[in-house]
Amino acid sequence: MQNLMVTGGAGFIGSNFVRYMLQKYAGYRIVVYDKLTYAGNLDNLKDVQRDFGARYAFVHGDVCDAAAVRAAIHQHQVDSVVNFAAATHVDRSLMEPDEFIRTDVFGTHVLLEAAKAFGLERYHQVSTDEVYGEVLEGRSRETDSLHTRSPYSASKAGGDMLCIAYYTSFDVPVTITRGSNNIGPYQYPEKVVPLFVTNAIDDQPLPLYGDGSQMRDYQYVVDHCEGIDVVLHQGEIGEIYNLGIGAETRNIDMTHAILDILGKPRSLIQPVKDRPGHDRRYALDVSKIRALGWEPNHSFEEAIEDTVRWYVENEWWWRPIKSGVHYQQYYQQQYQGREV
Ligand code: NAD
Ligand code: TYD
Repeated sequence: MQNLMVTGGAGFIGSNFVRYMLQKYAGYRIVVYDKLTYAGNLDNLKDVQRDFGARYAFVHGDVCDAAAVRAAIHQHQVDSVVNFAAATHVDRSLMEPDEFIRTDVFGTHVLLEAAKAFGLERYHQVSTDEVYGEVLEGRSRETDSLHTRSPYSASKAGGDMLCIAYYTSFDVPVTITRGSNNIGPYQYPEKVVPLFVTNAIDDQPLPLYGDGSQMRDYQYVVDHCEGIDVVLHQGEIGEIYNLGIGAETRNIDMTHAILDILGKPRSLIQPVKDRPGHDRRYALDVSKIRALGWEPNHSFEEAIEDTVRWYVENEWWWRPIKSGVHYQQYYQQQYQGREV
């Protein structure tokens, strides 16, 4: 495994993964294959191009385009694929589910077909804890059944099932990680943490859904990348690994932490109408990946502190996004008149 194709590598987690892998493995070459949707951004890879240009290439393409996927694999002599490409925001999946089903299900199928045709060494699917559905008590194990409740999680579950099918039916060497909510540098400011941090910096309201008691297992993105690396090298083919801290934080406590770090008043919190079908809690049992030797390097407190600091120090990255027409239109559609 030396020539990786990282699909969706211009997004949040994918770009952190590319940076992490090129820094760690001097012998690796990475080709990022990305459609550059609103969430894909070459600014995320600016330093990668500068620091690792000789071992890094970018291909602009759609994972649903089988001919383009095959051409990229052939041209760059790819031996393994790590798939981050997806439509990823739950709220958008409620407004426009088509793109979720197209990329997250059909796109996964196209990549698996290519992995089969080229006899790739590994196909790794980056999945999510959301496939288990809301877990009001206890913790999800990899063997649990899936109870998806949003078009996003249903599409991701479809991708996972296809991976298992290609492993079972065609011996495609598949691994899957199901990660919890990531936070850190380069996260598009539609997701709650970068949205709240950047709004708070500008003294704008923080739109908190419902009563704020929903829980997420927020983990630092680089820890997640390290976990994927561990599964790539030590994971068992055909296996699924949960990947998160294994400790949940209520949204209201996450919001207080952001405001406290920035020294901003709690009066910035604006309660808004809840998300339809809002999953109250995700919680992972992470003993399987811990048995491979992986453990997170950041507690929630450290992760949120580092994340807030990055957005404070990198306005060059998020201000152009937030002032753009696409973002402004989305923000209006999503939040206007939603106050309760
Ligand atoms: P993101 O939205 O920041 O990035 C997605 C990337 O995929 C973008 O660069 C986009 O241009 C690209 N893309 C979208 N459709 C494509 C297509 N048809 N063809 C090629 N490229 C396409 O997402 P993210 O937060 O970095 O998430 C990456 C992966 O990790 C996703 O599969 C997501 O389901 C999973 N995941 C995310 C989280 C999280 O907290 N963000 C947690 C667990 C798992
Ligand atoms: P989000 O970042 O969209 O991730 P996901 O829903 O995939 O876990 O949301 C994280 C939590 O924050 C979720 O419980 C919904 C909540 N939330 C808000 O309260 N306000 C917001 O504006 C957003 C985007 C999310």
